[in-house]
Amino acid sequence: MRRKLPFFVLVVLFALATAGVAAAANGGFTPVEPESPNASHIQHAYYLVLGLTSAIFVIVEGLLVVFIWKYRGRGRARAVEGAQVHGHTRLELIWTAIPVLILAVIAAFVFYELPGIDSAPAAADPIHITIEGHQYYWQFDYPNHARSIGTLHVPVGAVVDLKVVSPDVIHSWWVPARGGKLQAIPGRINHTWFQAPKKPGSYEGQCAELCGVYHAAMQATVQAGPQQAYQRYISTTAGQTIGKQEWTGVCATCHGNLGHGGYGPNISASTLLTSRASLLGILRQGLDTTRAGAMPPVGITWNNAQIDALAAYVKKHIYKAAPLGGTSGG
Ligand code: CUA
Repeated sequence: MRRKLPFFVLVVLFALATAGVAAAANGGFTPVEPESPNASHIQHAYYLVLGLTSAIFVIVEGLLVVFIWKYRGRGRARAVEGAQVHGHTRLELIWTAIPVLILAVIAAFVFYELPGIDSAPAAADPIHITIEGHQYYWQFDYPNHARSIGTLHVPVGAVVDLKVVSPDVIHSWWVPARGGKLQAIPGRINHTWFQAPKKPGSYEGQCAELCGVYHAAMQATVQAGPQQAYQRYISTTAGQTIGKQEWTGVCATCHGNLGHGGYGPNISASTLLTSRASLLGILRQGLDTTRAGAMPPVGITWNNAQIDALAAYVKKHIYKAAPLGGTSGG
């Protein structure tokens, strides 16, 4: 039985090391399937590093177990010293040279992949879209000045050039299937890009920089659809639905879908909702902004049409305590 012990220990260690991977399958251990050339290049680098580090882990832990077993006490008296070992120049040179070589391979490979991550295909005529990270939502500006909130609409197959900015704190734009993270930094314009897939689909993302109490609510979706659907969206639908998008994508995040039941205070009966001027004030300036968890100036970059749209939407759908004689219920 004692002879079988090291084998048994190795099997248990191996099972432990791989159980998590097997259970997770693609549920978090491996990156999402890339759907843009830059995301593929990032994934290649990821797998190279994962392969090398996995090999190192197995070799080091394996040797550790072997050595513990092979050079164990074997009943030697506690007071007796084991065999004394001094330096071994050749071994030491080898275990210095190999890591240097590994790092050189990783660096060379990353530099080889970098142009494909950094630059959009030269021949493409990209669509230029500006992404604004806000506490706590994403706003998208299209070439025709249309805006959307939370969901970025793009035509299938298009190369999209992204300007990433922030009017408040640092956020990080990240839709894993569409490429790497890029920080949205106040006072700076950062650039990235992706190429939408040939067939329609939607891809989830998330702010990747802790930006405040509701950081986790900063989700984003990239929706790739047929060219006509994209055109219709930016020329008509975006404008028609902006009030609703603002409510559901911005206000409801903290105040709940009906203006109550969320983390933020109940505003369903707040008279702030009934006047455009008061709404404008709180959207542009926020409230009590030095306090953690206070109302951020969510509408700091909103244009008049957006303010009007939200005012109309909340009056119709959210404000419950209609003023006496009011008939504008919905
Ligand atoms: Cu924005 Cu986290």
